Amino acid sequence: MTERAVDASTVLVVGRTDRGKTTWVRTLIERWTSRGETVGWVDADVGQGVLGPPAVQSLAVCRPGRDPQVVARWFVGNTSPRAHMLPCVVGVLRLTARAREEGCSRVVVDTTGLVAPSEGGVALKTWKAEALAPCTVVGLEVDGELEPILGPMEADPRFEVVRIPPGRGVRRRSFEERAAARAQRFREHLAGGREIALPQETPVYGTGTVGRGRLVGLLDGGGFCVGLGVVARWGERRAVHSPVDLHRVCAVRLGALKVDPESGREG
Ligand SMILES: Nc1ncnc2c1ncn2[C@@H]1O[C@H](COP(=O)(O)OP(=O)(O)O)[C@@H](O)[C@H]1O
Ligand SMILES: [Mg+2]
Repeated sequence: MTERAVDASTVLVVGRTDRGKTTWVRTLIERWTSRGETVGWVDADVGQGVLGPPAVQSLAVCRPGRDPQVVARWFVGNTSPRAHMLPCVVGVLRLTARAREEGCSRVVVDTTGLVAPSEGGVALKTWKAEALAPCTVVGLEVDGELEPILGPMEADPRFEVVRIPPGRGVRRRSFEERAAARAQRFREHLAGGREIALPQETPVYGTGTVGRGRLVGLLDGGGFCVGLGVVARWGERRAVHSPVDLHRVCAVRLGALKVDPESGREG
């Protein structure tokens, strides 16, 4: 089965890391846009996404003959969805709704590689599908590893399930390669940043001790993420290192990791 067989208005793509999900998503989007359709591309991979920095989900609107244009982001706050599943599911819902507002007749959602039942992967993918229902769920799998996710949906008329074997040329990346790719994307996003002082009245969501280096999401009036920041000072006078224009910031959400703005490295 290829992308030709998928003809739904909402498509959720699942599979372990390095199964060819993102490649498949790009092909599907090209097919649709070449037919004149406007497509919403929700990149919900907070680790190895391709539309923005790590720790966020991004929405790009893809119009015929034009490059994908990122129109909204959603802050999750970590580079893995483990322990951050609520913002992951809500983000997929909010970005998909935003895609419809932007005039997208179709939306395709690319996801992280977290599918293992023992790590909450089945719950995460199941609740994403529920958030989008009715939808087509495309699974790239080698030997039935997605059965706990796809099995029940196959018997449920609200879902169309399409199982696809990964392409032969799919390349696996090492842990180090993945970490280096994330660091580069953090670095690129934070480049050109400067220290911006946050007004005392700015709402700050999140808990825990806040120290220098903590990643934050800077949110607009709709709760979408206008960009990332890294805490420079906290306490009575709060400041973050960020490329974002302060005038766009209506709220701050604390992330779950530290990032060095120079190297982009986590830790
Ligand atoms: N059908 C395919 N044939 C050849 N190479 C592929 C194919 N699908 C993916 N790849 C390559 O395999 C790697 C991982 O693919 P990717 O789409 O990023 O996987 P995922 O999104 O599941 O992590 C990439 O280098 C990509 O270019
Ligand atoms: Mg991918």
